[in-house]
Amino acid sequence: MDDLDEQARAILKGNDRGGYTVPTGGLYPYQWNWDSVFAAAGFAEHDLSRAWEEIETLFSGQWSTGMVPHIIFHKVDPSYFPGPDIWGGVGPLPSSGISQPPIAATFIRALHALDPEGSKARVRALIPRLRDWHRWFFDWRGEGGAICVSHPWETGRDNCPDWDGPFANIQPEGVEQYYRRDTTHVKEDERPRSYDYDRYLYLVKLGHDCGWDEAHLKEVSPFRVADPTMTFTLLRANRDLLALSQAFGEPTDEIEGWIAAIEAGSEQLWNPEIGAYDCLDMRTGEHTGVISSASFLHWFAGVGEDRMLAHYDRITSDVRFSMPSTDPAHPQYEPRRYWRGPVWGMMNWLIATGLHEAGHEDRAEALRLNTAEVIRTGGFAEYFDPRDGSPAGGRNFTWTAATWLGWAS
Ligand code: DGY
Repeated sequence: MDDLDEQARAILKGNDRGGYTVPTGGLYPYQWNWDSVFAAAGFAEHDLSRAWEEIETLFSGQWSTGMVPHIIFHKVDPSYFPGPDIWGGVGPLPSSGISQPPIAATFIRALHALDPEGSKARVRALIPRLRDWHRWFFDWRGEGGAICVSHPWETGRDNCPDWDGPFANIQPEGVEQYYRRDTTHVKEDERPRSYDYDRYLYLVKLGHDCGWDEAHLKEVSPFRVADPTMTFTLLRANRDLLALSQAFGEPTDEIEGWIAAIEAGSEQLWNPEIGAYDCLDMRTGEHTGVISSASFLHWFAGVGEDRMLAHYDRITSDVRFSMPSTDPAHPQYEPRRYWRGPVWGMMNWLIATGLHEAGHEDRAEALRLNTAEVIRTGGFAEYFDPRDGSPAGGRNFTWTAATWLGWAS
């Protein structure tokens, strides 16, 4: 057995707080939404029941609106900022007020396939919850079938250059003085700048002050951006929810409607000027002009055929380790700063899944081997430098361990 398997399992165990895992102690001491889904996929490899528990704990934080928050604050921990009081989430558990890429349906379907009989009751209970969550996206974040975010943190790609344009239009007034904790855990040049943080907190305050009233935010927020992570993961998640609903005799019409709408609406994210999917700022009508790792999720969503293939081949042959979160040819590329350049293993997992399904088995396999190599080189770091695979950000990271166990190894 590979020693890295043991290490990866030990990381999941070490980050287990009883029913849920933290992404990594200190830097992220709570339950994060899509981190937890990846964790479940990692647990599934050796403890299926624990995998289901992870997902059920996540859904125990679902709001009555259907939204599943991006952070659930099960136990207060002063090592993280902004905590529950700053967010003022209005769900059943202390939480943030925004969501995260809805990959749960996709992984629930995969978990179910591992034990169809044994998982029946659990899947049956989760289907309506998934439907409510997807409907929330569609109702509040859909713009003609493209899916928007109200905060960069919602995409998981916190500080990617896509937000530079939208952020330049925000004056972060009224944000009280605050003290960042992230830079006490990780080097400052591997984290977002203060300029970005001021704007993150401005948007959190905007939501907090209206009790996370989505109708109000849709009207007044200066930040409303249609994003490929959200659009493509939701489209994919709806396909998986549809398959589960069919298997369980649940209603399917509404889900089929969402799929058709997002298939058509995702075309809004196609930027003919750069020949790529990027973000679309709904406040200005402008594309952000950035090719990112999220651009390559279109295969995962089953749209776009091979229109991004030349960019894919260019970028993967430009760097030692793929997929850099930002195109190295972009002027704002920074190979060690969080989502402005580094490689994220879990994004590779999603991209490779799509490549494989689109018939590009060779590229999917090359990406898997490259991801395994970056983990062997840099360990179970949060992210990696695309030039040499050196580790960056947090260490002993749950989703990197899960990516190893569930896919890369
Ligand atoms: C952070 O605090 O950096 C997180 O990414 C927010 O989700």
